[in-house]
Amino acid sequence: MPDFIADLPKVELHLHIEGTLEPELVFSLAKRNGITLNYLDESALRAAYEFDDLQSFLNIYYLGMQVLLTEQDFYDLTWSYLSRCHAENVRHVEIFFDPQAHLERKVAMKCMVLGIHRALEQAQKQWGISSCLILSFLRHLSEASAFDTLRLAEPFRHYFSGVGLDSAEKDNPPSKFSRVFKAAKEQGYRLVAHAGEEGPAEYIWQALDVLNVERIDHGVAAINDAPLMARLAKERIPLTVCPLSNLKLKVIQQMSELPIAQFLDAGVCVTINSDDPAYFGGYMNANYQALQEAINLSKADILRLALNGVEACWLDEAEKMVLT
Ligand code: ADE
Ligand code: ZN
Repeated sequence: MPDFIADLPKVELHLHIEGTLEPELVFSLAKRNGITLNYLDESALRAAYEFDDLQSFLNIYYLGMQVLLTEQDFYDLTWSYLSRCHAENVRHVEIFFDPQAHLERKVAMKCMVLGIHRALEQAQKQWGISSCLILSFLRHLSEASAFDTLRLAEPFRHYFSGVGLDSAEKDNPPSKFSRVFKAAKEQGYRLVAHAGEEGPAEYIWQALDVLNVERIDHGVAAINDAPLMARLAKERIPLTVCPLSNLKLKVIQQMSELPIAQFLDAGVCVTINSDDPAYFGGYMNANYQALQEAINLSKADILRLALNGVEACWLDEAEKMVLT
């Protein structure tokens, strides 16, 4: 089974580029940028990756990314992730970045976008890995801050395929961003949002009906809402589920609780992704593998999950054919 998973062409649709920052890169970028870290070395930093919930992870995630300052830093980060994709036979990626978390440190939008884009372009040329870039708003910040970010992105509009919504879900409902998402839609962005990770199924309904997103990031809370399950299945609205993330952030207590088999049986377009692999203990193959072992997925199930990724991605039909 590990070979079957490793050899399978895969698509990744839920990946925060800042969540691929491995401790080794944190330390080398800190050195290059003259930043002093509060951890003695890489293993001390890695030892801090024990989380109780989403917020305890976000605290360390925002801390870690403070070493990202220059265009070259964003290039190196993205290139390192894409090298892993190449090694794991991931053929297409749709990646998030969190501009507000860097603007706070006076890093220019241009510097983030050009650094990430240069790596994406090189991976396309060198390895044939295709990609989309998604600008994600931080939902713990205000609507006004999201609007400022959308405005700052305007000169770089052509680099982005869509906008997303991430960070602390509790008490930050999708409806807080209804006007920003409407404005983004008018500018031609495609729309996705994290919903139903720690938050209730109600937030998934809001993401669909108020924000008008076409894909839900996580969405595991849908399992408790039969009418929502029926809607997701009927409209083939994709869920980008992240097994190791859900386990590490205690959304589930054991991998066997993840309702992937139920989603598949119900006809939901569920996909497998890595979210923040540097923090959660594994990239794409590790996510498929951990899930397979926990719920005894068959090769046919794994193939279905990978094909759901192709169905859910933003390539055109001809490009999708190449992936299958
Ligand atoms: N930002 C990075 N990873 C995230 C996650 N799993 N949920 C919400 N926001 C995030
Ligand atoms: Zn995420």
